[in-house]
Amino acid sequence: MSQLPETKVFETREAAAAETARLLAGALASALLERPRVSFMASGGSSPGAAYEMLSAEPLDWDRVTVGLVDERWVDPEDAASNEALVRRTLLKNDAATATFLPMKTDAASPADAAAVVDARYAGAPRPFDAVLLGMGLDGHTASWFPGARGLEAMLDPAGSNIVAAIDAAGSPIARDHPLRLTLTLPALKDARRSVLLIYGAEKRSVLEAAMDGRAADLPVRRLIEYSTGGLSVVWAP
Ligand code: 6PG
Repeated sequence: MSQLPETKVFETREAAAAETARLLAGALASALLERPRVSFMASGGSSPGAAYEMLSAEPLDWDRVTVGLVDERWVDPEDAASNEALVRRTLLKNDAATATFLPMKTDAASPADAAAVVDARYAGAPRPFDAVLLGMGLDGHTASWFPGARGLEAMLDPAGSNIVAAIDAAGSPIARDHPLRLTLTLPALKDARRSVLLIYGAEKRSVLEAAMDGRAADLPVRRLIEYSTGGLSVVWAP
């Protein structure tokens, strides 16, 4: 049985978002005192927007921050489903407008065709990543590590050499219309200095508890938590 990481419980999603922004800003501020350039990897989805809005107004040396994506659907940056669009809309503004952004989407026909180029692009980001915002789906995926997806086992190999890999989650009821993705791998994420797993709702909390107490031990989110060597907090609200 693995321990649930430190979990901060809030009455509202607004309060959870504020705490998430505070934790991420604190991690970046500390890193900026120690290194000339630092990195933040941002997940997409419907949960993180409010936290990114708050983080964007934090008075950090954003011109020394490299912002990347934890994963990306294979859609154009103008598409409503694009994680790049979410990050540009909610984070890369205000004080954070001067950050360096590393997109994942390219003009390649598929993530598999783009993986090597984007892997090399992300190899240039400061690592270990200084701050990471993670989400989780009801299937226990985090990043784009969808259970049963093609390419999953290779990217969950802690000894793997790739930072970015392509995944095909065709058939996943959660990935639905966007099964083809690029995602950071376990080797890339496991040594992040500070990670925040932001989850909302009772169902997700139950899924995470089942992953950690062994009732659903094969869920990808557990793999990340088990291999994580940095600080990892769960922030939860109903
Ligand atoms: C994505 C995200 C993904 C997300 C979870 C949770 O591209 O969808 O990066 O990993 O964190 O799917 O998504 P919600 O916040 O929408 O529940």
